Amino acid sequence: MKHPYAVFAAIIIITALVAAAPGAHAQISTSYVTVGAADSTVIDRQIYGHFSEHLGRCIYDGFYVGDTSTRIRNTRGMRIDIVEALRKMKIPNLRWPGGCFADTYHWKDGIGPKEKRPSMVNTWWGGVTENNSFGTHEFLDLCEQLGAEPFISANVGSGTVQEFSEWVQYTNFEGKSPMSGLRAANGREKPWNVRYWGIGNEPWGCGGNMRADYYVDLYRKFVTFMTGTWRTPLYRIAAGSSSSDYSWTETLMKNIPPGMMEGLGLHHYSVIDWDKKGSAANFSHDEYYKTMKQAYRIEEIVAKHSAIMDAYDPKRKVALIVDEWGGWYDTEPGGTALYQQNTMRDAMIAGLTLNVFNNHADRVRMANLAQTVNVLQAVILTEGEKMILTPTYHVMEMYSVHQDAKRLPVAVRSAPYVEGRDTLPAVSASASKDKNGVIHVSLVNIDVRHTQPVSLLFKEDGFSSVSGRILSSDAVQDHNTFKEPMKVRPAEITGVTLKGGTLTASLPPCSVVVLEIK
Ligand code: AHR
Repeated sequence: MKHPYAVFAAIIIITALVAAAPGAHAQISTSYVTVGAADSTVIDRQIYGHFSEHLGRCIYDGFYVGDTSTRIRNTRGMRIDIVEALRKMKIPNLRWPGGCFADTYHWKDGIGPKEKRPSMVNTWWGGVTENNSFGTHEFLDLCEQLGAEPFISANVGSGTVQEFSEWVQYTNFEGKSPMSGLRAANGREKPWNVRYWGIGNEPWGCGGNMRADYYVDLYRKFVTFMTGTWRTPLYRIAAGSSSSDYSWTETLMKNIPPGMMEGLGLHHYSVIDWDKKGSAANFSHDEYYKTMKQAYRIEEIVAKHSAIMDAYDPKRKVALIVDEWGGWYDTEPGGTALYQQNTMRDAMIAGLTLNVFNNHADRVRMANLAQTVNVLQAVILTEGEKMILTPTYHVMEMYSVHQDAKRLPVAVRSAPYVEGRDTLPAVSASASKDKNGVIHVSLVNIDVRHTQPVSLLFKEDGFSSVSGRILSSDAVQDHNTFKEPMKVRPAEITGVTLKGGTLTASLPPCSVVVLEIK
């Protein structure tokens, strides 16, 4: 008897041939997902990281309400409701202080007694006064409360090598030194051992408008002075390119010697048009489709950057770090900088992007959604004492089962999502096996009109139960508000069947599903 996997593969090939035959109708009614056996690749939990910048209400009136607030429950100024929600979502790391802000930030202004800290102007984000009351100690306290690894982006654009090397010593040096003495004088005896360091941000733009060759030399110089006698091995991340700027990646891979860089960044935002981004919650089907097209580009972008990296680093020692990603729309009328609502469209961006990262986990080992609270594709929005979880939060929480699990390779034969004369694959998927042997498969149907039936076949069989959760809503524009905070939330999925090694499920329009198979 043939293994069911072989039969299933044959069905997929026949379906593909029929679909490709002259005169054939392009629509395939069922999508097929084959799930292979685990290889040695682990889906690094750091792929599920987040980003917090001194921008709009992300830090102030977001994470941080000040240690004198009696109105909002906090621990040393950090909102307790936010910390609890992010812990539940299993946030693995948090990037800070920017973004563009990072290359204007001088860390010594943000330590010591708050009343003595000098203020500055946040030139990138609205020219507002930054009083530096949230600095290194506060950020690292926040990370400890969250149980998340800190990821600090250093100032290369307007800072000095000495300033940077002293920051590393201030946070990490355990012996006696001017910097560890200063840290102790400011109330922290033991080092934090910060592992992840970004060397500048977008040096090709807001970080200094540099050419790649010039940045390479600066990078080499900055990291040279990061060495020391601290316990934590440093993880040095070079500032990467924007979307499909492959020449930036090529120049860095070619000219940064092996052993000098652990990670190389990449930023990709799903934006319809930088001059006309459109409303976050009030959008047409056409705009929705265009956003999905931008989001789907991440597959090709990651694959092409990875291929360039493979040529210089065939053993894949250097990780691709997608340290900014997400949807970007017009700021809500009356909202602070880059404040936007978050709808089921954003849940689609999150689901399909995380599927891509999971599937490329052999190269993508860290990522940061922009930005955690009240800015861009936030997982949390606040208004005074109120806090809501966005559809994106729910996707991140549902997908957290993949963190540190073994990747299972998937092959997807998707029905098309047709819009006019254009098509995108309707269904995307990724899968993993956790340390208890439980398999999780995440599935996304971005088709706004059609339910997608999906058949899944597993290389391994012998399963006896399947359960799962689904995030869906009546309209793709649906979102949570402070009046209706639970409109969009996950529910138990029904109607999934497991028969003879084949699992079938039905994905409603614009839905995200995570199945658990034992
Ligand atoms: O996330 C907002 C901004 O987008 C960041 O500051 C910058 O790095 C990027 O251009």
